[in-house]
Amino acid sequence: MSLVNRSLVTIDDLSNGEIEALFSLADEMSESINDQSHLCQGKIMASLFFEPSTRTRLSFEAAMHRLGGSVISVVDIRATSLAKGESIADMARVVGSYADVIVIRHSWEGAAKVVADYAGIPVINAGDGSHEHPSQTLGDLYTLKKERQTIRGLKIALCGDLKHGRTIHSLAYALARFGVSRIYFRPGPGLEIPPHVLRKLTQDYGGAFYKGPATDLSSLAQVLGAQSADAIYITPTDSHQLALMPDVHLKLDTGEGAIYVTRFQKERAGDSAISEKDYPKISPSVLKGKDFKRTLVMHPLPRIDELAYEMDADPRSMYFKQAARGVPIRMALIALLLGAREIDVPEEEELFSKIDYPVYRRGFGVKCHNPGGNCVSLHETKYIKPEFKIVSFDPLTLRCVYCEHEVQPEYIASSEWHQGMLESKKYHSSGSHWLKKIKPENLIMFDTEAEAQAQGFKPSSYAGKRNDD
Ligand code: NCD
Repeated sequence: MSLVNRSLVTIDDLSNGEIEALFSLADEMSESINDQSHLCQGKIMASLFFEPSTRTRLSFEAAMHRLGGSVISVVDIRATSLAKGESIADMARVVGSYADVIVIRHSWEGAAKVVADYAGIPVINAGDGSHEHPSQTLGDLYTLKKERQTIRGLKIALCGDLKHGRTIHSLAYALARFGVSRIYFRPGPGLEIPPHVLRKLTQDYGGAFYKGPATDLSSLAQVLGAQSADAIYITPTDSHQLALMPDVHLKLDTGEGAIYVTRFQKERAGDSAISEKDYPKISPSVLKGKDFKRTLVMHPLPRIDELAYEMDADPRSMYFKQAARGVPIRMALIALLLGAREIDVPEEEELFSKIDYPVYRRGFGVKCHNPGGNCVSLHETKYIKPEFKIVSFDPLTLRCVYCEHEVQPEYIASSEWHQGMLESKKYHSSGSHWLKKIKPENLIMFDTEAEAQAQGFKPSSYAGKRNDD
């Protein structure tokens, strides 16, 4: 199996088997890290970091140097033609003609997908806004695998900024796919896991979401705060029955699993301040209970105040190992995407079958509703047509293919109007029975009546009604 010429934009771009095979190659690379300089000789990696980075940029660049390749880089968007108004697509085409692989970090969600769509060479997403950070996840999973041999069945607590943390989003998807038994969510105040991430976890990966008792007094709840029990994701490997029993009292332990801590992403939170007091913080004193004796402490770094320096000497602390393992992981990834190495992909049991959602794409009508307006499709409008997956017909819900945030369009119409008479060019409420009558491939969707009218549609008697059937 070859990964040559593929891109890594989201963690779902690699199958479980491919990730396992990549780990085997990373093992091999780390055993002879000084011996790999023949693999990518003559190849060039473009390293485009338009947001601050230490670990990700330097570990990618170190990885390419260790493979014998060269690196061209930009670390300041103001030093590029993007600052003159050049589009990401044009930049991608040009850089794609200079280099063999691109690593990109950008503050817009979906920016890495656009680069991958236009560059013509493999592209690795090194973080796109709050969306995803798949190569960090490879390092996180690799650490879990090295320390615990298997990821399946582990219990993992994700703490901190679950709303804006791109490492959290990619990791949560991967943990679900690899069959951890539970994910506990312990957000900082107002920083809960976003609905579109939860839908993917439950609908796409088949797990269940459990709302537990807020007064749970088990040790994890004490450590992570009194509200820690209000959000638990149970994967199909654990008993679904738990999710169906409203009063069940789950023991919130992490056992041999991990507590994954993240900082508040204040650069993405606009003006909203958070209460320091309620932000989960990990220190040796909160982890002294016997339930945490074997629990790993992980962090993508950088840390601010959420992880005490006193943890550093603790054998449970994994964060510097995670960072160090980023180099062999990225060496393996680059070597595979450049075709410098091939791998045998083991037959891995996937715990769910991929859902092929219908795709909706039109040059007018409904647009992405990214809450911070931070989706690439809302910025690069000259050439990007809004594109969505229809993830639900009840209620009608779309997932943006760039940032994956959801939108529920208010109005619908059919593109088949022209076969009838002009007076049948009508729009309806998306909650009306018309949603079932119009074939998915003929659907046209609008956010507002004004948009529908601007396209020449007139309100039907079902334009203002919901649930009329
Ligand atoms: C993370 C990131 O950039 O998303 N850092 C990293 O790549 N290791 C986490 C963070 O910045 O908090």
